[in-house]
Amino acid sequence: MSVHLPLLIEPMQLEDLPAVLDIERASHVDPWKESFFAEELTRPHAVNLVARLRDDRRRIVGYICVWLVADEVQIFNLAVDPAVRRRGVGRRLLLTALQKACTQNARMAFLEVRRSNLAAQKLYETIGFRPSGLRPDYYDGIREPAVLMELEMDRGWRSRWLLSEAGWMDGERSC
Ligand SMILES: CC(C)(COP(=O)(O)OP(=O)(O)OC[C@H]1O[C@@H](n2cnc3c(N)ncnc32)[C@H](O)[C@@H]1OP(=O)(O)O)[C@@H](O)C(=O)NCCC(=O)NCCS
Repeated sequence: MSVHLPLLIEPMQLEDLPAVLDIERASHVDPWKESFFAEELTRPHAVNLVARLRDDRRRIVGYICVWLVADEVQIFNLAVDPAVRRRGVGRRLLLTALQKACTQNARMAFLEVRRSNLAAQKLYETIGFRPSGLRPDYYDGIREPAVLMELEMDRGWRSRWLLSEAGWMDGERSC
C-alpha cells in the first residue's frame, strides 16, 4: 500500500501559477492557460486550492478548482504532479474542497470527466460519485464524450467522509 504524503492544503495564489501550470501541462490533453487560472482567482464563488508538501512548503504537488453556487459544487479542474500520484493527494484535495462546500451548505457535487479517464473516474467513485449521463463531443478538439458524475453529500456521506476524516484533516488543513 502506498504511503500518503503529509500535506498542507491552502488557497491558490497568483504566485503559485508557474508550479500549477507545470502540473496542468503534464496532466491534461487540453491544458488550461495561465489566464484561465488567473480569472478563477478573481471569482468570488470559486474555491481554488493547492496541495503543498508539509516538509517543503514551496513544492506544490496538486490543485483543485471548483465553483460553489447555491447548494451545488461544480468541480472544474483537479490534477496531481505525476511524480506523486497514488499517494492520496487527489483525494485530499477533493475532500477538502467538498468539506469547504459543505460548510457553505452545498449538498450536491457535479463534474464531467473524459470517458477514457478511468483513473479519475475511479478516484471519484471511491468517495461516492456515480455516473449520471454522457455528453457526446463535450471537449473542444477532442472527439470524446464526457461522463457526467454526481454525488449527494447527505448526512451519511458527510459523517463518513468529512467528520470521520476530520481527525486526519485537523492540523493539516489550513483553509
Ligand atoms: C486523477 C488524479 C487527480 C488522481 O490523483 P492521485 O493523487 O493519484 O489520486 P489518489 O492517490 O488520491 O487516489 C485515490 C484513489 O483513487 C483511485 N485511483 C487514483 N488513480 C488511479 C489509477 N491510476 N488507477 C486506478 N485507480 C486510481 C484509487 O482507488 C486510489 O486509491 P488507492 O491508491 O488506495 O488504490 C491524477 O491521476 C491526475 O492528476 N490525473 C491527470 C489529471 C486528471 O485526470 N484530472 C481529473 C480530471 S476530471
